[in-house]
Amino acid sequence: MKIPMPSVIVALALGFSIAVLTAQASAQESGPVQSLRGVIELDELNEAPPVAALKTGRRFDKAYRQQPPLIPHKTDKYQINTKVNQCLRCHDWPYNVQEGAPKISETHYADRNGVALDKVTRSRWFCTQCHVNQTDAPVLVGNDFVNAVNAR
Ligand code: HEC
Ligand code: HEC
Repeated sequence: MKIPMPSVIVALALGFSIAVLTAQASAQESGPVQSLRGVIELDELNEAPPVAALKTGRRFDKAYRQQPPLIPHKTDKYQINTKVNQCLRCHDWPYNVQEGAPKISETHYADRNGVALDKVTRSRWFCTQCHVNQTDAPVLVGNDFVNAVNAR
């Protein structure tokens, strides 16, 4: 049987495209690293991501024993710099008593050598380094993390 030449070329081209598409699909599955910034040139500005709404009020459960508790209230008005820390006026003893706020953990009053201090140690000064606001922000990168309690 005589196969016309153009059909052979079409068949070859089709085969090649399928091979390329398959290769692309498997590259996506195994995941070339993708920037959270999106596919944008370095000198271009990307759009700021939407700010997730805070979830105040009910405290979220801890995901694991050692987790710094999440902050169940707004914090945008409370300044923290090298001299001022406005979180302390509610959370440092004895102010926490009159404010009805949970007292800062005792671990935060020990310096890095374990010496007990009467003031919050400098290594715990920037509270929001560890404690973050509660939000229902979507995960940036998909993952299969399971809370320690549920993992048992
Ligand atoms: C005006 C007083 C006030 C200020 C200022 C304040 N908080 Fe609070 N905070 C509270 C109260 C009251 C609660 C308890 C709320 C509840 O149980 O619903 C709380 C709860 C928390 C909790 C949860 C503790 C736990 O055991 O679950 C964290 C963490 C926290 N605050 C961190 C901060 C940080 C960090 C700052 C500064 C950026 C700050 N707070 C400033 C009053 C305050
Ligand atoms: C280096 C991380 C880190 C920093 C900085 C830090 N915390 Fe914590 N915080 C934790 C962890 C972890 C816990 C839970 C374990 C514990 O109690 O030590 C905690 C617990 C707490 C609790 C709950 C206490 C309790 O008895 O349940 C409060 C309130 C708190 N921190 C407030 C603060 C405030 C206010 C600041 C800033 C002055 C601060 N933290 C700075 C990590 C941190």
